[in-house]
Formats: sequence, structure tokens, C-alpha cells
Amino acid sequence: MRVELSSGDAESVEADVLAVPLADPSAPLPAGASRLDELLGGRLRRVAEEEQVAKKAGQAAVLHLGGEIAAGRLAAAGLGPGAAIDPDAVRTGASGVARATAAVGGTIAWLLDDGLALPAAEQARAAVEGLMLGGYDPGRWKADGDRPKHFERLVLVGGDDGALAAAERASRVATAANRARDLANAPPNELTPEALADRAAELADATEHLTAEALGPAEIRELRMGSFLAVAQGSHNEPRLIVLRYDPPEPQGDVVLGLVGKGITFDTGGISLKPAAYMEDMKGDMAGAAAVVEGIGAVADLGLPLRAIGVVAATENMPGGGAFRPGDILTARNGKTIEVINTDAEGRLVLADALVYAREQGATHIVDFATLTGVMETALGDLYAGVFGNDADWRDRVVEAGEASGDHAWALPLHERFRRYIDSNYADMKNSSILRQGVPVLAAEFLQEFAGEGPWAHIDMAGTGFFRWPRPDYLWQKGGTGYGVRLIAELAGRLSA
Ligand code: BES
Ligand code: MN
Ligand code: ZN
Repeated sequence: MRVELSSGDAESVEADVLAVPLADPSAPLPAGASRLDELLGGRLRRVAEEEQVAKKAGQAAVLHLGGEIAAGRLAAAGLGPGAAIDPDAVRTGASGVARATAAVGGTIAWLLDDGLALPAAEQARAAVEGLMLGGYDPGRWKADGDRPKHFERLVLVGGDDGALAAAERASRVATAANRARDLANAPPNELTPEALADRAAELADATEHLTAEALGPAEIRELRMGSFLAVAQGSHNEPRLIVLRYDPPEPQGDVVLGLVGKGITFDTGGISLKPAAYMEDMKGDMAGAAAVVEGIGAVADLGLPLRAIGVVAATENMPGGGAFRPGDILTARNGKTIEVINTDAEGRLVLADALVYAREQGATHIVDFATLTGVMETALGDLYAGVFGNDADWRDRVVEAGEASGDHAWALPLHERFRRYIDSNYADMKNSSILRQGVPVLAAEFLQEFAGEGPWAHIDMAGTGFFRWPRPDYLWQKGGTGYGVRLIAELAGRLSA
């Protein structure tokens, strides 16, 4: 979506839709809206009251106009009670407009409101995200039918250059987040590890200073990635180790941001087979990989002066005569041995080798993204991802970037005394335990064994990366959410500021 600043008043903006955010159900209309209401003979106030627009974030009412102002339609966008206005409320309000005008397309104007507690740049950023993420269309694979239209152009009314810059950045990042959603929603017969590698290559081709490489089974074996290979060995579709490198011409400082993604293009559970219900959602088990690929793409597209490397371990997890089994002992690239207890705890196995590789390739600060444990959703639901780390400062910076970006994140603990969860009688560690305690913690303890020297954070995004049920806000569709892309762009922006 292209973004511009309007030169004139709200009533003179030529647009298919003029959106007017309304915060407080009981408060009088803000100045800008009040002026429009006069020009419309009180119809804005009437429709807003009748349809209780301001009472709930996401509520929207559309007026079709006949030349009273320059815009063709006016959309009243509910943000909810004034005291609760935050970026998510604006995102949800904008998403409500996108839903209510899905048949329109063209140009949308958004009225920034200086009466809101949120600075104009934050409003602009959130409005862009709400319009673009809320307007996302998951129905790409439908052969016919009317697909929703998208606004190509956004005109900010009442903003300054700071608001414009924030909106432009948000538009690039939201484009990347929607692409990550496309990857997660893509069916597993289409999005194989090879196809994911092709997407990385395509992105690198189209983006300056970004390169991509994909290693196949022979090279992965050569690298002695016995943990990753074990998961891949049951599948007819070959695995890929996808490596993306972003090398800007004038990088700031010595930080090399390492982004590691779980790329299970379909997780059946393997020999520890999953039950049938909801198994189709396991096409989204590469949402972490999608975040890494599109996130590093966004960092490069923004031209941030920070070096970054993305490592994605992409494979299916299938049962079959060639599949790995519970009881197998694997040797990872760093030489550590792993007793397999459960083949459905496969994400940590592929991440182990990818983490070691990212460190070897020069990553100084690592974040991994993984739909790792189902009980993460049980614990923090669809709103917060859990963040673990071997360095409290780095972990907290990741959490803060998440919070600032809309990809909500919450710190969770690691402790030496949790190590016993992965103690094995035969090998250096085991990948799972019959003990039903601290399941996401156990996984994080396991990953820590491969994080090497230097700060590392692990994001368990099983609840936030791919929705089994829609969330009643701007991410209102089930399926891929793009979680992690905004966090990566925000984190990289902060590291290079
Ligand atoms: N991909 C799943 C985790 C998952 C479950 C993500 C539901 C999103 C929704 C992962 O590979 C897995 O199967 N984890 C197991 C771990 C267990 C065997 C220790 C789980 O969560 O049950
Ligand atoms: Mn699994
Ligand atoms: Zn999995």
C-alpha cells in the first residue's frame, strides 16, 4: 500500500473511503469528525450512535455519500472505550474498516486524531497494520468467487513527516507479514521444503544485499547434522537447510543478528503419530521459518544498517519404513547425542543443528522462532508467545521489541534445575519426557544445549503463529498470522538505531 500525506482538510481528500476513528462512546465527536458531521448534516453522529460504533474496537459503519465532501464514502471506525486505546485498538478499528469495505479498493484516507492518547506516528503505523493485516485474504486457492479488494493507496489526514515515515515502514513490514501468512497457509503438498527454499531464493533475487542458499540432503549429511536428518529421513520430499544473508554496505557495530526458524512443512508426529483432529493445521508448523524468511526480507527491504543471517531447517515429519523411531540415538552437529523419546518432539531436533550452524556462520545474537509446543497455547493462548533465553538482557530486548511491534511476547524462565527434564540414561540428553511438567521449558532447555556462546532467545509461538480459531481483533482469520515478522523488523531497527 502506497502512503501519502494529505495537503488539505478531511473534506477535500479525494478517496474511495474516508475513515474516521471514534474512541469514546459517550464523548462528543473529536474536532475533525465534528466538522465532517456538520457537512453531512449530522449523519456521522447518527450512524455512530445507532450502530454503537465507538463502543467496541472493530465495529464499523459505512455511509455512502453524494458529493457533500470529496470522498465517496465515510467509514466510522470504532476503537472502543477511550481509556483502553492502544495500538491494538487502532489496528482492530482499521481492520473493521477493511472488512466493511472489502468490495471497494482504490484509495483510503485515514483521519489522525490529535485528541487520542497515542502519538500520530503510532496511530498511522497501527492504522496501516490494521488495514493490511485485517484485509488479508486467505482464500488464494479458491478457483472462483469474488476475492476481496485491497486499498492500493492510503492518504493520512492531519499527520506530519514522522507519521508518513512510520506508515511507510509499517506498510513494508505488513506486506512481509502477509507473505509469511501466505507461506503458513499454503497447503503442504504445495509448500514442500524445496518450495520454501525457492521462495527464499526469489526474495533474495528481488532484494538488494540479500542472498539465499539452500543445502540438500547430501550437504546436510556432509555437515553431520544427524539430528535434523533423522527427522527428515521418513519423508519422500527432501529437506533443505535454507540460509539467508543480509549484508548491508555500511553495517553499524559488530552485531550479527541470527534468526533461526523451525520449518516443518508438515508435522504428522512421525512414528509417535498425532491424532487426526486438527492435523491439517500442522501445515502451519513452518510458521517460525516463514517469520525468519519474510522477516529478514523486511529488514533488507527497509535497508536497515545491521548484518543478519537467517537459518531455516525445513523438512516434513512423516511416519514410514524409513522414519526415525523412539529409542534412536542421534548425534547433532556439535557432537552431542540425543535419545529420541517422542518423534513428535521434532522441532527441537531440527533447530538444534540450525542453531549450531547459525553460530558457526557468525551470528552473535540469536533468536529462534518455532511453533514448538502445543501447551504454549494452553498457557498463554493466542495473544502472547513465550520467550526463553540464556541472557536476561537479550531476552528482555526481544520481549520489548515484540511488545512495541504488536507481536506480543512474555518472558519465561530457564534454570539449571530444569536440566533434569532432559537427562537421559543413555545419551547426553533426551528430546522429550513422559513427565507432564514444564513442557515448553523442557524444549527450551534442550535448545540451550545448542545455542553456543553468546546471547540466544527462543520464541515458542505455537499459540500465536497459526490460529486454530480466529482471534477477535485485527487478526480475525484462522491460520497463519505472520507472527514474528513485525518483531524481527522492530528488533533489527532498535539494534541498528
Ligand atoms: N508442532 C507441534 C507443536 C504444536 C502443536 C504447534 C499444536 C501448534 C499447535 C510440535 O512439534 C509437537 O508436536 N510438540 C509436542 C511435544 C511433545 C511431544 C513433547 C506437543 O506439543 O505435544
Ligand atoms: Mn511435533
Ligand atoms: Zn512440530
